[in-house]
Amino acid sequence: MRLDQFVSQSAALTRVDAQKAIRCGWVEVDGMRVTKTSTHIEPTTAVVTLDDAPLTLPGDIYVMLHKPAGVVSAREDPEHPTVLDLIDHPHRKTLHVVGRLDKDTTGLLLLTNDGDWSHRISAPKHHVPKTYLATLAWELSEAGAQALRAGVQLNGEKGLTKPAEVEILPDNQARITISEGKYHQVKRMLAAVGNRVEALHRERIGGLVLDAELPPGEWRELTVGEKDGIQPKNR
Ligand code: URA
Repeated sequence: MRLDQFVSQSAALTRVDAQKAIRCGWVEVDGMRVTKTSTHIEPTTAVVTLDDAPLTLPGDIYVMLHKPAGVVSAREDPEHPTVLDLIDHPHRKTLHVVGRLDKDTTGLLLLTNDGDWSHRISAPKHHVPKTYLATLAWELSEAGAQALRAGVQLNGEKGLTKPAEVEILPDNQARITISEGKYHQVKRMLAAVGNRVEALHRERIGGLVLDAELPPGEWRELTVGEKDGIQPKNR
């Protein structure tokens, strides 16, 4: 691996800043100052320091965030705060969002730097179920619930939505589980049966439930069991 690549990834610097640090003589490899940015190092065995502080590559990171309303599910946004602004992890800049939520939707959001894992969870062919608690403008009728269970026609889409699990709850709420991820899907499904979503909260993705101890805006890393249990590898 190139030294500038190693320094950039392990110190969360841009490649240009990593190259500057190396040229300035702030980086040592196995106790020797190295100023050539393209120097090849063995990342698993070389001892690399920046300003005498040892550097290590980030490894795979899996984060659960309790997304609050008002932040966008993106890495950068010119106008609004983003979910990445809430993650004060040293390697936060390596993370991407796994399955976005709308700006006003709250609840379970996953971020990772492991592209294979995020693909297994978000690729449509894997059908990972996602459960939402929807607060509606009106009580959901049994006929409306049945239509959602059977599949509804969304504006601009070819076929019907895949069968959803629907539970009618008190106080104009409903719990809805879908295994697709079309744009604004839950809001559009409820609109298709003549209702309107006033608030939406994601409770669960596959086998993973939002940690009840995590207040809105807070995050934590997943345990190995949570990370492996969310979606079996062979699905
Ligand atoms: N469906 C929606 O309509 N919005 C979300 O944020 C997630 C699912």
